[in-house]
Amino acid sequence: MKIAVLVSGTGSNLRAIANAIEAGKCAVEIVLVVSDKETAPALAFAAEREIPTAVVSPKAHESREAWDAALAARVGASEAQLVVLAGFMRIVGKAMLERFPNRIVNVHPALLPSFPGAHGAEEAIAKGVRIAGCTVHLVDAGVDTGPILAQAAVPVLPGDDAKTLHARIQVHEHTLLPAVIDAIARGGIVLGDRPIWKEVLWHTGESLVSPPISR
Ligand code: GRF
Repeated sequence: MKIAVLVSGTGSNLRAIANAIEAGKCAVEIVLVVSDKETAPALAFAAEREIPTAVVSPKAHESREAWDAALAARVGASEAQLVVLAGFMRIVGKAMLERFPNRIVNVHPALLPSFPGAHGAEEAIAKGVRIAGCTVHLVDAGVDTGPILAQAAVPVLPGDDAKTLHARIQVHEHTLLPAVIDAIARGGIVLGDRPIWKEVLWHTGESLVSPPISR
């Protein structure tokens, strides 16, 4: 399965996907990495790995809709069958959702539906939750509201701050996201308004990965 990965920052999740592919654990090909920011370190990583890259900057477009349409056209031209938001810090719009219905996946550093938005780990610390985590979900028109595909729980440790917690959450993102993408590619998850799990997702790491959701 061909995938496009959308990034805004460091790209540790992009790296995790690329490494999982190399290790034979993720049955996809990254055909394009797109960023909204020219300076995103994730782009340099993609270039190093000789993965085609593109920048679709909101600044170069007169409206959010025009930017979203340009993004949909660029990603669509790559022939990607699945779009992965891996630290993409913008909300995709109607053109993207219509071009890739139920085919956009996001990784979020909180146990949704708690703490949607850009500050998942900070809000978990501020609220004093004891169990934080990460979620891989389908993207819909809301902010982090689409159907949940998988989650990993990460305990909040004494002395944690947003930074240390986020770092431990990311360790789990790096196994969960490639595993979910692989399951989608192999037909282990059938995507739709109500995604169906056909197989059991394994448990990993210091905490539990949620059992599959079958509806
Ligand atoms: C991740 O924590 C992800 O959950 C959030 O943005 C962060 C991106 O990190 N959406 P990276 O760029 O993949 O290192």
